[in-house]
Amino acid sequence: MKKHSVLVAGGGSTFTPGIVLMLLDNLDRFPIRSLKFYDNDGARQEIVAEACKVLLKEKAPQIEFTYTTDPEVAFTDVDFVMAHIRVGKYPMRELDEKIPLKYGVVGQETCGPGGIAYGMRSIGGVLELVKYMEKYSPNAWMLNYSNPAAIVAEATRVLCPDSKILNICDMPIGIENRMANILGMESRKELEVMYYGLNHFGWWKSITDKNGADMMPALKEYVSKNGYVPPNPEGGQHVEASWNDTFAKAKDVYALDPETLPNTYLKYYLFPDYVVEHSNPEYTRANEVMDNREKQVFTECRKIIELGNSEGCELEVDEHASYIVDLARAIAFNTKERMLLIVENQGAIENFDSTAMVEIPCLVGSNGPEPLRVGSIPQFQHGMMSQQVSVEKLVAEAWTEKSYQKLWQAITLSKTVPSASVAKSILDDLVEANKAFWPELH
Ligand code: NAD
Ligand code: G6P
Ligand code: MN
Repeated sequence: MKKHSVLVAGGGSTFTPGIVLMLLDNLDRFPIRSLKFYDNDGARQEIVAEACKVLLKEKAPQIEFTYTTDPEVAFTDVDFVMAHIRVGKYPMRELDEKIPLKYGVVGQETCGPGGIAYGMRSIGGVLELVKYMEKYSPNAWMLNYSNPAAIVAEATRVLCPDSKILNICDMPIGIENRMANILGMESRKELEVMYYGLNHFGWWKSITDKNGADMMPALKEYVSKNGYVPPNPEGGQHVEASWNDTFAKAKDVYALDPETLPNTYLKYYLFPDYVVEHSNPEYTRANEVMDNREKQVFTECRKIIELGNSEGCELEVDEHASYIVDLARAIAFNTKERMLLIVENQGAIENFDSTAMVEIPCLVGSNGPEPLRVGSIPQFQHGMMSQQVSVEKLVAEAWTEKSYQKLWQAITLSKTVPSASVAKSILDDLVEANKAFWPELH
């Protein structure tokens, strides 16, 4: 099997150690000859990288490992770029969440005004990664899960249409793991799903087992009572109380359209009043992550560096992230695996904007994704998606044209925002907070 060269962009991410451990666990399926980290915050990355260096020396000393803030060193001789950057890091996420809440509006990483603000920061960061990749390793593929994936995907569709970038999200995978658990199955891979929507904004329309038996009735029965809180909770990424509340709330989201099963993120659009009531404007998810995941990851990394070995190390293999290996394998070895990706609609959803970036099943091979046909979607989903895709397109246009007007329209159009005047107040605060990251708007 060919051995590949992988670059992790956003080497200082809280997810990097779990992903490295996952890659090491999957070397038989996806052999690696070289692993590199790239980040524009050298000090943050160094802690994660020095710890990973120890892990690699212990588990796979044959892999060449380097980390750098120099794009040329990073992007030269690379087959896959796994990109998970967070432009502005957690302090900016905190503002994305807290500014809308000041005005009684949902404060969330990827939904509503917070997601729009994050999008205005991410577009430039991800485009820069694409530019480096094309300059130094023109045959490489970028597997991007930097958020907000919907807005980033729309921007790359318009601004670098021929680039080899695939945008992907782990939320459907996380929910399908829960579905498998609910059904008493070993793995989500025993399920065959038809799913459609936008990123963080979609629905399962059918779910069968590998023999074609319909799993929807049993799942609907369960979700109508418990949401996606499974009978035997598993560990992993989404374990804190706030996430549990999101999985439980899927019960109410489901009630609105009992024909489909919803993505958990729809709660922010369908129950924004509930979300705001249950938010603490002084302590949001960003604070929770900084106090938990970020602290834990960096403490563990420092421990490993100090000890020089990983004895007693509490960093865990991020098994759920093995979808990234599935995707890389699909490209590298032409596996034609069926996966949900964020791709240009092009008629896959028959009665929807053909230029929209939609999240749908694709068969992935060496030439990239072949989207599957979804057919027509119902009025309810069509209405919601038309409104939301316009928000996402307006953000990409606002970034490109440096347009205040379009960004105001985007925020106003978000289903989470009650009026154009509230949108303007939020926007003016966001402009002020994002001076170092957004293009100057006029
Ligand atoms: P983090 O802040 O811990 O890590 C992000 C890293 O990116 C930081 O080290 C930062 O210095 C670096 N960075 C920022 N701007 C950069 C730039 N322009 N060039 C190079 N590096 C840059 O964040 P995290 O919580 O670990 O999340 C990382 C990203 O992964 C976020 O975008 C998050 O939303 C995303 N994510 C996506 C999914 C998905 O489903 N698509 C799942 C999990 C996480
Ligand atoms: C899910 C989503 C990601 C998002 C993450 C946030 O996995 O699919 O897109 O980044 O949740 O998790 P956090 O723990 O940072 O709030
Ligand atoms: Mn996601």
